[in-house]
Amino acid sequence: MPLLAQHEKEGEESKNPAIGDPKAIDAGGKLFAGGCAACHGADGQGGRGPNLRMRVFWHAVDPPTIFKAVQKGVGAGMPASNLPEDQAWQVVAFVVSMTSPAIETTVNGDVENGRAVFSGKGGCTGCHSINNQGGKMGPDLSNIASVKPALAIRDAILDPDGDGADGYHAVSVTLRNGKSLKGVARNRSNYSLQLQDRQGNLHLINMADVAEMTLGKGSPMPKDYGSKLSTKEVDDLVAYLAKQSLRPFVPSKK
Ligand code: HEC
Ligand code: HEC
Repeated sequence: MPLLAQHEKEGEESKNPAIGDPKAIDAGGKLFAGGCAACHGADGQGGRGPNLRMRVFWHAVDPPTIFKAVQKGVGAGMPASNLPEDQAWQVVAFVVSMTSPAIETTVNGDVENGRAVFSGKGGCTGCHSINNQGGKMGPDLSNIASVKPALAIRDAILDPDGDGADGYHAVSVTLRNGKSLKGVARNRSNYSLQLQDRQGNLHLINMADVAEMTLGKGSPMPKDYGSKLSTKEVDDLVAYLAKQSLRPFVPSKK
C-alpha cells in the first residue's frame, strides 16, 4: 500500500525533535494561527493559500518541504516567514500533526467516554462497525485512525456532506408491491438499483418494480451532531476513533 511506504519515509525524515512533541505542536498551533491561518485557513483547510490537510492524500506530507516553505516562502504567493528555526519547526510539527493519520498523532479527549458516546448517545453503531460490532450501512471504522487525520474524522462527524460522501447516497424506495426499503444506494443505473440497508443486506432492485424513489443529497449520516453532542462529547468521540487502527503505530526513533 503506498500509504505505508509514505509513512516509512516520513518516519525517516522526521528527525527534528519537534515532530510529534505535544508541546511543540501546541506552540506551533499558536504560531500557525498568527502567521499562516490568514492564507491557509484556521484549520489548514485553505483560502488564499492551498488546503494543507488534503495533501496527505495526494503526496507525502514531508517535514523538510514544509520547513523550506516556511523559511523561504513559495513562489510569488507565499512570503518567507521571519520565524527563528526552532519556531519554524514547531509550525512544521503542527502542520504534520494536522495532516498525519490520527493514530500517529496525540489527540486530546477521553477515549473511554468516546466509546460510550459511539455506542450510546451518538448512535454510531447503528450504521458503523468496529471490529465486527455494529451496523453495516456506513463504512467500517476499525481502521479509520490509520487512514484519516483526527481533524478529518472530526469533519466527518460534524460536516458529513463536506467531502462529498463519495459513493454513499441515502435512498428510500417504495416498490409496486407496496414494500418499502431504506438505506444507501451503492450502485445505480436507469435499470437497476443496489440498495444496502442498515443490516448490511444488499437488495438488487429492478427499476421497473419501483413505484417511488427518493434519493438523498449527500451523506445519510445525521447532520445534527454539532448540536446533539457537546463539544466534549465530540472531542471524546474523535479521541476514541483516533485509536482505531488495524496496524499498530510504531513511533519513529528520534
Ligand atoms: C500570504 C499568504 C500565505 C501565508 C501567510 C502563508 N502561506 Fe503557505 N502558501 C501560500 C500560497 C499561495 C502557497 C502556494 C504557492 C505556490 O504553489 O506557488 C503556499 C504554499 C504552502 C505550502 C506548500 C509547499 C509545497 O511545496 O507544496 C506549505 C507547506 C505552506 N504554504 C505552509 C505555510 C505555513 C506553515 C505558513 C505559516 C508559517 C504559511 N504557509 C504562510 C500562501 C501563504
Ligand atoms: C444513519 C447511518 C449513520 C449514522 C447513525 C452515523 N454514520 Fe457515520 N457514516 C455513514 C455513512 C453512510 C458514511 C459514508 C458517507 C460519508 O462519508 O458521509 C459515514 C461516514 C463516517 C465517517 C467517515 C468514514 C470514512 O471512511 O471516511 C466517520 C468518521 C463517521 N461516519 C463517524 C460517525 C460517528 C462517530 C457517528 C456517531 C456520532 C456516525 N458516524 C453515525 C452513516 C452513518
